[in-house]
Amino acid sequence: MNSKISASMMCADFLNLADDIRELERIKVDYLHIDIMDNHFVPNITLSPDYIRQVRNATYIPMDIHLMINEPERHLDLFDFKEDDIVSIHYESTPHIQRALKALKDIGVTVSIALNPATPIYYLDFLIEDIDVVLIMTVNPGYAGQSLVPETLEKIRDLRIYLDNRGGEHVAIEVDGNVSFENARRMRKKGADIFVAGSSSLFCADMSIKEANKILRESIA
Ligand code: DX5
Ligand code: ZN
Repeated sequence: MNSKISASMMCADFLNLADDIRELERIKVDYLHIDIMDNHFVPNITLSPDYIRQVRNATYIPMDIHLMINEPERHLDLFDFKEDDIVSIHYESTPHIQRALKALKDIGVTVSIALNPATPIYYLDFLIEDIDVVLIMTVNPGYAGQSLVPETLEKIRDLRIYLDNRGGEHVAIEVDGNVSFENARRMRKKGADIFVAGSSSLFCADMSIKEANKILRESIA
């Protein structure tokens, strides 16, 4: 699969959000990554359904909505999902993960399951038919600006082999957390397809979105 970039909107400039969105359109970013946190599943609070609605009115870029909330299946009706969206729910966030994934499939979005760094790949054994994407957390979810959990690099490679051996050749691998220019290159070599670009790349302090995009695209070509 061609590599894709998903811009982590919790790292955008909130005071100049419209400008950032225009720039993300200009560089043809593939998705807007929207982190939704509930202060229970993760110890932080970030973006919201209202944020999604507002941003939706301002751009045509599809969304990549990352739900870091407990029992997401109880809260799906709060969200205005669209067919082109990817929606990720965490394996660890509900005892009824298959039911939750099925609910997303019924809504018609691209269904993604997120795995925390320490969650084993084989937990997907009975879920491959229910998913389109696996989101590998390469940091522990909750905050921007963290360092890579190094074990997750091999996990990307293992996951690609695991999926290909079980009829999941079509399932894409997304990576989220400290996707720096250098880490992105390493992740691409291991088999990552979709790259969540936050404070480590697209929105890093020392260059423009345009410059960062150029370097990131080269890293994941
Ligand atoms: C958490 C977030 C963060 C962040 C990514 O789920 O998605 O991982 O925005 O950006 P970095 O790690 O580069 O700050
Ligand atoms: Zn995320």
